[in-house]
Amino acid sequence: MLALGSFSRAELSAQTVTAKSDVPPWLYPLAFPPAGAPLPDSVKLLRLPHSTRAFTRAQVSDLFMAKDWYPTSHPPLPAVVATGRRPEVHACGYCHLPAGGGRPENAALAGLPADYIVRQVQAFRSGERRSAWTGPHRPFDLMTRVAKNATEDEVARAAEYFAALTLPRRVRVVEAQRVPRTYVTGALHAVSPGRQREAIGGRIIEVPENHERFELRDERSGFVAYVPPGSIARGRAMTRLGAGGAAACTTCHGESLRGGAIGPPIAGQFPSYVMRQLVAFRSGARAGSAAAPMQAMTAALSTDDLVALSAYVGSLSPRRH
Ligand code: HEC
Ligand code: HEC
Repeated sequence: MLALGSFSRAELSAQTVTAKSDVPPWLYPLAFPPAGAPLPDSVKLLRLPHSTRAFTRAQVSDLFMAKDWYPTSHPPLPAVVATGRRPEVHACGYCHLPAGGGRPENAALAGLPADYIVRQVQAFRSGERRSAWTGPHRPFDLMTRVAKNATEDEVARAAEYFAALTLPRRVRVVEAQRVPRTYVTGALHAVSPGRQREAIGGRIIEVPENHERFELRDERSGFVAYVPPGSIARGRAMTRLGAGGAAACTTCHGESLRGGAIGPPIAGQFPSYVMRQLVAFRSGARAGSAAAPMQAMTAALSTDDLVALSAYVGSLSPRRH
């Protein structure tokens, strides 16, 4: 049998098959209140220190209303971003937030090129862009539903709006062998009460810096992404030297990964979002002609490689200072 380094060819291809079908469950946390749980309060007004606005808990959880805590921090919201359109087009700004900063369970949209945004919404609609996770994943399923029901004009307006915004830095990437113990709430991990720690074990654990402000959808409150020690340096080397024997990431995504001629900006995106995309390309779930280079590139990479790339990409500043 032909030997390649310390592996036989059969062993290598067996490894690739394993990696391709490896879709780590910790990337898709999901725990929503059961049907029949008490409705959120619709009387008491909740506030944030630097905002003049107030919302009730029921308003905070209304998918047809972006929580615009800081209305002067961005241009006026197009209707599809502010309220969406009943019954199926939830407000883009509910999930991606009014200034496009997004949350780890969805994506930051601020500063993505408008034609890229339009093309992705079309890919969700056509089913070309699917999740690698085949079980239910509410955020992804809702995005697909919005894409299937929004009009071309609504998508164009949203794309133009988000493309003109600048993405602030929203996540700190921290290397740690032992991380705070977490539980799942909504589609996110959150730090458990008490000070227990547990081994990170090859995962990315992304949690809000402040859980209450996260729940209120405060765009000024950020996230911490814990990653295994050594990930950032390893990811950096892979993005420059080329991973999986393919071109360096910078060839297409630009020198600082802030966007290039072919690839969209990825610097400063949430590591868990980036990881879900790399896993989706590798599994073939995110497909289409534009996705072909990404599928080829990730095919030979292990899950640990993808974690390192996601850690490095998330650690970069999304813009020049
Ligand atoms: C219910 C929540 C929700 C709403 C409402 C929503 N999205 Fe999304 N969106 C998501 C999630 C979740 C993802 C990430 C999907 C994935 O992991 O591939 C996403 C991803 C995207 C992406 C891909 C970003 C990238 O970097 O490739 C685009 C573009 C997008 N949404 C546009 C929109 C637009 C435009 C609207 C309003 C018309 C909208 N979304 C409304 C949840 C939502
Ligand atoms: C040959 C060009 C090319 C190279 C090299 C390349 N990419 Fe990409 N990448 C793309 C294109 C094109 C897309 C958009 C795919 C689509 O439209 O579905 C993309 C999309 C992505 C996305 C999803 C972005 C989003 O917002 O959803 C991530 C993450 C990504 N690339 C990371 C990487 C990393 C990490 C590397 C290096 C290991 C890399 N890319 C190398 C062309 C490239």
